[in-house]
Amino acid sequence: MATEVKSPLTLRKMTQDDLLGAIELSQEQSWPHRPEDWELFFELGEGIVAELDDKVVGTIMAWRFGEDYATIGMVIVTNEIQGQGIGRKLMQAMLDQLEGCNVVLNATQEGLPLYAKLGFVPCGVVRQHQGPAPAMPLIELMPGERVRPVGGSDEHLVDMYSKASGMDRSHIFEALCRDSSAVVLSRDHEPVGFALLRRFGRGRAIAPIVAPDLDGAKVLITHWLGARAGKFCRIDVVEGLGLSKWLEAEGLPCVGTVTTMVRGKAPMPQEGPQVFAIAAQALG
Ligand SMILES: CC(C)(COP(=O)(O)OP(=O)(O)OC[C@H]1O[C@@H](n2cnc3c(N)ncnc32)[C@H](O)[C@@H]1OP(=O)(O)O)[C@@H](O)C(=O)NCCC(=O)NCCS
Repeated sequence: MATEVKSPLTLRKMTQDDLLGAIELSQEQSWPHRPEDWELFFELGEGIVAELDDKVVGTIMAWRFGEDYATIGMVIVTNEIQGQGIGRKLMQAMLDQLEGCNVVLNATQEGLPLYAKLGFVPCGVVRQHQGPAPAMPLIELMPGERVRPVGGSDEHLVDMYSKASGMDRSHIFEALCRDSSAVVLSRDHEPVGFALLRRFGRGRAIAPIVAPDLDGAKVLITHWLGARAGKFCRIDVVEGLGLSKWLEAEGLPCVGTVTTMVRGKAPMPQEGPQVFAIAAQALG
């Protein structure tokens, strides 16, 4: 049963000191984010908190990708005071802050009605696969195909990532790489895709995965799942590219979906490698 909010609610800029309160909110929702995950989001983005009696009771964050695009995530209002307009206030304040940007987000079932009322329209689905990594036989590589660690001459991967996602990913790529291992898929010595294995939540996430085609994505996933057999892994797969069905069959089940929504112009990925799995539901 919701408690009616009587004392004044303040919305203000999120600071580093708010992260402890923010973590409590995500834990209340049984979201898996570790303090380090919140810290990374905070380092890369901007946030607003709702405060009541000196306590953080709501959060929202956003990340800018170039001048035209931003994503919104970590939208949470503590259970006890949901349904009283606080989520809408947080969203409105963040949308004001992001004025002029096309905004993308991944909506839970609970968030979807609010976002729809604010002009967001569905443009895709992300399927969350996770569990102990199944032991998988290695996929036979095509002639000329190779999976290798990222090297010093791979600085164009960030460009590949930006083109594949239709958003300038330069400022997040380096940070994502910091606490992760990365491999490149090359064909005839040309890099055509990559996958990061990052610490996230309850274990590791293979996130993002950028690949030239479904077979390439499978090769990259098999590489990382094979290296992590039996350990918790998560992959947030873009629906419609064929990966989800394959992962189910291989033993990494889908545990839920979120609806990708956009307000403004949808990102326009360029021809070439595609994003098969996103970096995080919050970051897109
Ligand atoms: C999603 C969430 C942030 C919304 O916050 P909130 O303070 O409860 O939302 P509000 O009270 O501002 O309601 C927002 C609007 O959505 C509408 N709404 C909410 N649930 C709805 C439903 N099931 N069907 C139709 N409309 C609904 C409300 O009527 C309200 O519309 P109005 O402003 O026109 O009256 C909150 O429910 C939450 O934290 N959920 C758990 C975490 C989560 O899933 N976050 C979203 C991540 S993408």
